[in-house]
Amino acid sequence: MEITLRTGDITTSTLDAVVNAANSSLLGGGGVDGAIHRAAGPALLAECRELRDSTLPDGLPPGRAVATGAGDLAARWVIHTVGPNRHAGQTDVSVLESCFSASLDEAQRIGAHSVAFPAIGAGVYGWDAAEVARAAHRALTAEDADERWPDVARVEFVLFGQAAAQAFDAVF
Ligand code: APR
Repeated sequence: MEITLRTGDITTSTLDAVVNAANSSLLGGGGVDGAIHRAAGPALLAECRELRDSTLPDGLPPGRAVATGAGDLAARWVIHTVGPNRHAGQTDVSVLESCFSASLDEAQRIGAHSVAFPAIGAGVYGWDAAEVARAAHRALTAEDADERWPDVARVEFVLFGQAAAQAFDAVF
C-alpha cells in the first residue's frame, strides 16, 4: 500500500474514495463534513438519510465506517466514519484507530483502490494532530494490513493546514 501526504482540500481529491470525518447522525455538520456535503451536493445527504431510514436507524457509532456514493465529487465514493469526540469524554484512542481500519475495510469491500483521508478527529473532536497521525500509522502498518486490504493500493492523507501536515510528516 502506497501512502502519500499532501496539504489541500480533500473535496477536490480524484481518488476512488474520500473519507468523511462525520458525526453519528450522518446528516452533515461543519469542518470536513460540511465541506464534503457542500461539494457533493444534496444527493449525498439524500443517501445518508436513506441509511438512517434503513440500515442505520440509530446513526453510525464512533469507530465504524459506511460508504455512500459521492454526489458531485470527482471521487466515486464517500466513506463516512465517526471519530471519538474527546470533548464528550470519548478518549479511547483505539476507537480513533478503528476509524482508519474500518474505512479501509469498507474501501476493500466496495472495490475502492485508492482512498483519501482527512485528519479524522483533529478538528471539532479535539484530538491532537500528532495523536491522529500515530493512530493512522498504527492502523495502516498493522501486521495483517496486506491480507486485510489487498486491493487498496494507495492511501493519501490530505491535511488542511501546517500543524496537521507537520504532525503527519513527522510520523509518516
Ligand atoms: N479538507 C481536508 N481537511 C479538512 C477540510 C477540508 N476541506 N476541512 C477541515 N479539514 C480538517 C480539519 O482542519 C481537521 O484537521 O479535517 C480535520 C478534521 O476536523 P473536523 O472536520 O472538525 O472533524 P472532527 O474533528 O473529526 O470532528 C467531527 O465535526 O464537522 C463536524 O459533523 C462533524 O460533528 C462532526 C465533527
